[in-house]
Amino acid sequence: MTKTSQVSGFYKLKKEERLSKVKEFADLTDQDIKALEEGLGMEQAEKMVENVVATFRLPLGIAMNYLINGKEYMIPMATEETSVVAAASNAAKMCRSMGGFKAESTEPIMIGQIQLLTKDAKKARSAIEENKKKIIDLANTKDPRLISFGGGAKDLEARIIKTGKGEMVIIHLLVNVKDAMGANAVNTMCEAASPLIEELTGGKTLLKIISNLADRRLARSEVTVGKEEIGGEVVVDAIINAYEFAAADPYRAVTHNKGAMNGITAAVIATGNDSRAVEAGAHAYAARDGKYTTLTTWKKDRDGNLHGRIELPLAVGIVGGATMNPSARMSLKILNVKTAKELSEVIASVGLAQNLAALRALSTEGIQRGHMSLHAKNIAMMAGAKGKDIDIIAEAMVREKNINVNRAKELLEEGKRWTN
Ligand code: MEV
Repeated sequence: MTKTSQVSGFYKLKKEERLSKVKEFADLTDQDIKALEEGLGMEQAEKMVENVVATFRLPLGIAMNYLINGKEYMIPMATEETSVVAAASNAAKMCRSMGGFKAESTEPIMIGQIQLLTKDAKKARSAIEENKKKIIDLANTKDPRLISFGGGAKDLEARIIKTGKGEMVIIHLLVNVKDAMGANAVNTMCEAASPLIEELTGGKTLLKIISNLADRRLARSEVTVGKEEIGGEVVVDAIINAYEFAAADPYRAVTHNKGAMNGITAAVIATGNDSRAVEAGAHAYAARDGKYTTLTTWKKDRDGNLHGRIELPLAVGIVGGATMNPSARMSLKILNVKTAKELSEVIASVGLAQNLAALRALSTEGIQRGHMSLHAKNIAMMAGAKGKDIDIIAEAMVREKNINVNRAKELLEEGKRWTN
């Protein structure tokens, strides 16, 4: 039997039933399930950061229905935001009708920056360019393991920039980091190469650090959504109008991109990756032409169907760093990705789906309706409701279109009177 990430009514199942569907899909062992449920322990937490006093938990939801490059995926998403996981699943379902997402990515090349202060920038740049191979070879002595996997420093570029303190030479070491996020490898290589650069130029190196504008490590995904699937050509047109607004207006583009990042960041966190690096890179990339604009584009094809595309830097790894967190390891197992490239392609697709869901909701019924049900549950809990009462009170408030703590308290009291 071929596996599918489509499980009808997944959201209606009990947590144990959901877990068992995920277990079956991802071939998880009982031990994996235990690790998933227990999450990060104190012992591991203390190895990750300083001054630990506890661990901080987030909900881990699984977005269903993802078909990417012909492969089925369930997507673990760590997020505090209501509706994100449901929206990611719904949009992915609509995206299946015409073959799902087609995704690709560049080689995982990260940029390491070395700042060089020198009296004669042009002369220094020439010296660096003439000794490129020597510098690259020196950097590569630092990570034989990465080299053995075919990674390592591959190229070097030197630019002169004008600053408030005069001209500086900025050297970019281009490193193929293979399946890692790469910050450690790149920073180590930059530090290792710096003494040689100083020797060759007579200058002084200052900063040696990875750039989070990972524009040599891009992930792309595109999808065609059947017009019937999305609610007809009227909805296709509405989505395109919503997109054009964002493409033309940075105030809207930021929110548009935030919607895509709802999905991207949730998957980045779930897989133990560095969400700040991805966020910083994505927003800088959105402004690469000097004006901040959208990471996605939406068009209507000749048949009236909706076609969307996303492209962004995605520096995510499947080894090293925080991916050793047991929750992250389990997320990676559920995803069943074999390379960091594949992970980036999956995450880009989630971003595209999340953006589609937001645009569809905003340009049709508005965003609030979808948010209301879980929001109402939160309010019911704030009012003191427990167990089944939470759902009963939340549903009543949604029906009445009156969701606030006072009303929840009233309903709770009324309920008590009925049951006493
Ligand atoms: C909310 O978290 C995300 C949205 O604002 C995205 C958007 O406006 O496109 C709904």
